Amino acid sequence: MPQDTLPVRVPLVTEPWGILKSLNAARQNVLSIIPDIATRQPMVSGKTGKRWHMVMDPDAIRRILLERLDDYPKSDVTKNLLRPAIGESLFIAEGAHWRWQRRAAAPVFSHRNVMNLAPIMTRAAEAACDRVAGAGPRAVNMADEMVRATFDVISDVTFSGDGGFDRDAVHRAIDAYIAEAGKVSLFDVLGFPDWVPRPGRIMSGAALREMKSVADRAIDNRRDARRDGVPDLLDLLLDGEDPETKRRMDTGELRDNLLTFIVAGHETTALTLAWSLYLCAFDQGVQDRARTEARAVLGDRAATGEDVANLPFVRQIVDEALRLYPPAGIISRSAQKPDTLCGREVRPGDIVMIPIYALHRNRVLWEDADAFRPDRFADRKAIPRYAYLPFGDGPRICIGASFALQEAVIVLATLLARYRFAPVPGKAPKPVMILTLRPEGGVWLTAEPVAGDGPVSRRSA
Ligand code: HEM
Repeated sequence: MPQDTLPVRVPLVTEPWGILKSLNAARQNVLSIIPDIATRQPMVSGKTGKRWHMVMDPDAIRRILLERLDDYPKSDVTKNLLRPAIGESLFIAEGAHWRWQRRAAAPVFSHRNVMNLAPIMTRAAEAACDRVAGAGPRAVNMADEMVRATFDVISDVTFSGDGGFDRDAVHRAIDAYIAEAGKVSLFDVLGFPDWVPRPGRIMSGAALREMKSVADRAIDNRRDARRDGVPDLLDLLLDGEDPETKRRMDTGELRDNLLTFIVAGHETTALTLAWSLYLCAFDQGVQDRARTEARAVLGDRAATGEDVANLPFVRQIVDEALRLYPPAGIISRSAQKPDTLCGREVRPGDIVMIPIYALHRNRVLWEDADAFRPDRFADRKAIPRYAYLPFGDGPRICIGASFALQEAVIVLATLLARYRFAPVPGKAPKPVMILTLRPEGGVWLTAEPVAGDGPVSRRSA
């Protein structure tokens, strides 16, 4: 397939690199350490300080993520980085401490609860349309706009309406922490040896303590004075109870998990939307089809939670964006027991990576793997389960997947129904993974209002 018919991608390594070259490349883009053969083979192994394996074989991945979950805990790299900010929360905990939190938090993300939060997503979609309208004919960096939109949503569904509590300050602090943590994580992804200098402290202990105590006060206030109306994630988590042990979260555990939702849920969803918009601008034919669907369902109003089931093609675009640009481009585990994967020896202490980016572009599993083709998701049952893992899988699958997908479809459908997006020549984004897979340089698009029956900038659902 000729180059210019393909959306942007990461040039993968075609020859073995030494430690320093890998380190330098990883500093710029973690994905650039993935060897190109990872898109053609089931497994690649190596040693860069530590022994590591990259696994692209669906059966082996199933073994790691499902069948032998306890033998492959999350690797220390990400956990050590995130622990100072989000403690032993759901994302980080292992074993019994993870299990009870997962059981207590699961109902928070039930279909009904996620659906109840949809009006907040619809409002954020409206606000994004207003900002796009405000830019007029000028190109807009839709990546920034989508960060703003998902920030609005996560702010409203975590500490909503808590008077006197500066929720934006907490969210900004957490974002700043993650930005810094991302830079550090590169050094550990491949187990670079200890002599490689690491950056120092990422956020002062005092700043972190202050952020946590602000959140704790908001939680205690809410516990004392419950609100009427639709429960947000804090209300739901306050009511959460492990059905087996009847244990409930104390203030510290509630805070760590709410901060986790902000960390894990807001930028990832923004990236999904930013890449979806990039792809729609890249392929106007796909965009037109999506717009036709969106306008048939929505007319001039913004999408609601109920609309999501009636927007299958918009959902397919989101699915395909998550295939080509998975926000969590690599997930990583630390082997605890001797094992054999794809006929190779795995020793305790080995780093076992699932490079989701390479898995999603593996030639054995995907036809025209680098091409943008939302139609491949028309029949979801045809997609082998462990070949497509934007949200991971097994018991530790992303708890917020349906929340994120609902939000992405609501925002994308609303935008596409009202605007025709076109790329700005010479401004294609570069896929770069630091902690998440971001469009470096931004997603600069022009947005032309679509002719409807009235003004397109402000319409209510
Ligand atoms: C498109 C958006 C999202 C993507 C691509 C994504 C991706 C992922 C992935 C790949 C994992 C598994 C990591 C691993 O196994 O190492 C995960 C776990 C998790 N995600 Fe998401 N996520 C998204 C949105 C969200 C949202 C909206 C929330 C919460 C509001 C959330 C909360 C979590 C939590 C708490 C975990 C840990 C679950 C556990 O270990 O039991 N995520 N996510």
